[in-house]
Amino acid sequence: MEKDIYTLGIESSCDETSVSVVKNGREVLSNVIHSQIDIHKQFGGVVPEIASRNHVEAISTVTKEALKEAKIDFCDIDAICPTYGPGLVGALLVGVAYAKALSYAISKPLVGVNHIEGHIAANYITNLELEPPFLCLVISGGHTHLIHIKDYTELEILARTRDDAIGEAFDKVARVIGLEYPGGPKIDKLAKEGKPNIELPHTYFEDSLDFSFSGIKTAVLNLHHKNPEINKADLCASFESTVIDMLLTNTKKALKQLNIKKIALAGGVSANLHIRNAFFKMGEEEGVKIYYPDLKLCTDNAAMIASAGYYNFLKGNFSDLSLNAIPNLKI
Ligand code: KG4
Ligand code: ZN
Repeated sequence: MEKDIYTLGIESSCDETSVSVVKNGREVLSNVIHSQIDIHKQFGGVVPEIASRNHVEAISTVTKEALKEAKIDFCDIDAICPTYGPGLVGALLVGVAYAKALSYAISKPLVGVNHIEGHIAANYITNLELEPPFLCLVISGGHTHLIHIKDYTELEILARTRDDAIGEAFDKVARVIGLEYPGGPKIDKLAKEGKPNIELPHTYFEDSLDFSFSGIKTAVLNLHHKNPEINKADLCASFESTVIDMLLTNTKKALKQLNIKKIALAGGVSANLHIRNAFFKMGEEEGVKIYYPDLKLCTDNAAMIASAGYYNFLKGNFSDLSLNAIPNLKI
């Protein structure tokens, strides 16, 4: 029988300090998340300096809690896997520095993890049968990518956003119409009460699968500016339905190009119920199997990082103590 592998995931790229222990890449033994949302809410978005300070204060306690909950000790861990990018540089540095110190102190290997690979890996935890190859639509606060997952650590970006990330557009629209940060879940809720009866611009590129959300974001802001009494629920429903249409159009094209019948959604915005439903319906129509992470694994957490760390560990993708935070790390 092969030995079980335990990875310790450490996530601090934005406003969640999270540490998790995952067994064999798929089984979560603990996933402690210390969220700073309530602190940043009052500023309408994440304040990087405040985020870094809070990570410093929380990381040690969160790590101890994660080990206690998993009922294991430092000596049982096979690899320490911090997110090293992309994200806020000061926030990332806290997790990376902590992981390096831990790796040195307990003589365990260090495996730096790309945050986007982590979001994708959230699907491996929720969907035990999911294996590459598949197509993944990563939709989060900082990223919008269509990625061909050829193997666990072999990824090819097929499309990206040319301007705003989808989550940024959700949060900006929400802020303008008076909803609290983070706006995505609030729009999701309000849209349920509205009708998609307001026409908004769809942006497509003739010769590319890339996305663009700045046009629709500006259109919503202008509409609200010109008519502050506009029905907010209808505006949210129209914004969501137009965004969904853009996501579906490009995803269907990519599925055809690759001739793939499996797609996974990932990232904070994949918690959106309307997006999940629309993809489920498309899957039934097109004979494509759709995978999503559990709702609690869509937004930032360390279990997804520990899972991605496991597959990099198996591949021998080790880091050393020169590992640094890379705020604009690419796939
Ligand atoms: O993946 P994530 O936690 O952070 C990044 O890596 O960027 O994503 C956070 C984003 C925020 O923009 C938030 O508004 C959005 O995910 N979000 C949602 C929903 N839940 C979170 N957007 C739309 N509908 C939701 N239900
Ligand atoms: Zn994220």
